[in-house]
Amino acid sequence: MSDYFLEVKNLTKHFPLNNDLISRLGGKTRTLKAVDDISFFIKPGETLGLVGESGCGKSTTARLITRLIEPSSGSIYLKDDDLLSLPPERMLDVRKTVQLVFQDPYSSLNPRKTIMQILSRPLEVHNLAKGWTAKRRHVLHLLRLVGLGVEHADRYPHEFSGGQRQRIAIARALAVSPQLIIGDEPVSALDVSIQAQILNLFRELQQEFNLTYLFIAHDLSVIRHISDRVAVMYVGKIVETGTVETIFENPKHPYTHALLMAVPHADPLKPPPRLTLQGELATPVDPPPGCRLYGRCPIATDICGEVSPELIGRGGEHYVACHNI
Ligand SMILES: Nc1ncnc2c1ncn2[C@@H]1O[C@H](COP(=O)(O)OP(=O)(O)OP(=O)(O)O)[C@@H](O)[C@H]1O
Ligand code: SF4
Ligand SMILES: [Mg+2]
Repeated sequence: MSDYFLEVKNLTKHFPLNNDLISRLGGKTRTLKAVDDISFFIKPGETLGLVGESGCGKSTTARLITRLIEPSSGSIYLKDDDLLSLPPERMLDVRKTVQLVFQDPYSSLNPRKTIMQILSRPLEVHNLAKGWTAKRRHVLHLLRLVGLGVEHADRYPHEFSGGQRQRIAIARALAVSPQLIIGDEPVSALDVSIQAQILNLFRELQQEFNLTYLFIAHDLSVIRHISDRVAVMYVGKIVETGTVETIFENPKHPYTHALLMAVPHADPLKPPPRLTLQGELATPVDPPPGCRLYGRCPIATDICGEVSPELIGRGGEHYVACHNI
């Protein structure tokens, strides 16, 4: 039996760019390495926060785990099941076990359906409630779980605020009794005060149903609030992972330092991290060999331009991918 609820090994997603202008002009296919050989695990009942700048591969990782897209290579284990070689009849179970909550609930809620109809749909697909009365009872229970009430059941999505719509999206995810919820920036579009309420709801539901979370955000304060462990991603690679205390109090990787430095310091007595990056975010299109941070990193040496650093254990659950740390 695996100790992990989810384990991702050497997961890779490369998009061939054979039809864009530069590829056509150059006469050869370029490759966008959105996710490039990443490995991580999530233990049952814990929250792994996945953080990184726009375009670093967070959503692609979420879509790979939920099998919305196929990986180029690598493996994904859900408990002891190898997701990539499961027979099709078992995939319906997986679709129940793993649910995705998106950033923008409005675009994922059909504007022409009532909340009752929206929340009934997964119950019908997975045959979880038969008949109108059973479905309605189930839907009202789901609404209560997310802090909404019977008066909301027959309204349409546009009648709700952003926070309420996200509650509805969470109720829809809960409808099938999932065990792993992947939140892809689920609070990023909300006001800060509403963010806190939705984060608290995620936490309460986690405790009540022993849920495991992969929580994606680019906002470090959100990540710090919700995560047990954190994985930091940069241009398709995971560069550092550790407990939330380690990542925020004792970061090692130059990129993690740079990310933290961008956040105003809560504690004015604490000196800011010393490592400052130069230049812009690297491109994931045909990246050169070596570390993705080479060219920006103040402590780089020759090997960094040639060999991509592996994540190496630094004690406990702390792993860092850097030749010079
Ligand atoms: N279907 C696709 N074809 C080509 N490139 C893609 C495709 N999907 C994603 N990408 C590229 O893969 C990279 C990673 O995208 P992804 O959406 O995973 O980033 P992200 O970390 O979720 O960013 P954000 O914070 O903006 O949501 C980006 O460069 C993106 O343009
Ligand atoms: S491997 Fe080299 S370039 Fe990359 S972060 Fe470490 S020192 Fe910097
Ligand atoms: Mg994204």
